[in-house]
Amino acid sequence: MDKQQLLYEGKAKKVYATADPDLLVVEYKDDATAFNGLKRGQIADKGLMNNQIAAHFFRVLAGNGVPSHFVRVLSGREMLVKRLSILPVEVVVRYIAAGSLSKRLGLAEGTPLPSPVLEFYYKKDELGDPLVNEYHIRVLGLAAPQQVAEISGQALQVGKLLTAYLREKAIVLVDFKLEFGLFHGQVLLGDEISPDTCRFWDAVSGEKLDKDRFRRDLGGVGEAYAEVLRRLTGGEPERNVESNN
Ligand code: TMP
Ligand code: ASP
Repeated sequence: MDKQQLLYEGKAKKVYATADPDLLVVEYKDDATAFNGLKRGQIADKGLMNNQIAAHFFRVLAGNGVPSHFVRVLSGREMLVKRLSILPVEVVVRYIAAGSLSKRLGLAEGTPLPSPVLEFYYKKDELGDPLVNEYHIRVLGLAAPQQVAEISGQALQVGKLLTAYLREKAIVLVDFKLEFGLFHGQVLLGDEISPDTCRFWDAVSGEKLDKDRFRRDLGGVGEAYAEVLRRLTGGEPERNVESNN
């Protein structure tokens, strides 16, 4: 499936049209940003690793009854996906206090939450992606109540499945962010699942294996991503992936 014109370039990915109006090519970049683009950098081979990590998670989810936009891997840093009309709502699920939740509520990072916390953020760079609730989503017309129920249920299900899956890999899933879109009217999981969009802590040492290493200048960023890929697939980032889809 050849990529055609560039439709969109985001902070971490480029999206191309294909000959099929229902399919897109996503190319994962090595660029890293944080704090709504204020901090910028490059992480060598991040694009390769995130493409392969995201593909792996999407396959695990599909195998457990959660479909997504993922179709197949096309190359080291490219995947073929279904063309969604993305809902402008980011869904975050948290199990352990960290990041903005710790800051907002004064909970020490690492505090286990007695039950999962589900949050919505309005995808709007100019506003810095503000936290919103279901009333805001309704008033702004970001998604229908039925769609909010659907994405909430799917996000919690994804969290349950990935928590159990990652536990086997000695990784604690602290929190993660998902995006959903509509494909011919159906709500479908989109975007990516990777160390850019999740917090992963080593189950034994507590070491951070995610983008917080970049956000907080902890060093060893690429090594952490490579470690996640290794634990998931047992391998190193592949530069040319044509089969095994
Ligand atoms: P937060 O604690 O900064 O709100 O982040 C919660 C989770 O969401 C964390 O796993 C990182 C992810 N995330 C994104 O994927 N994109 C973003 O723009 C932000 C702010 C967080
Ligand atoms: N991806 C977001 C940005 O560039 C924030 C983050 O992941 O911390 O600003």
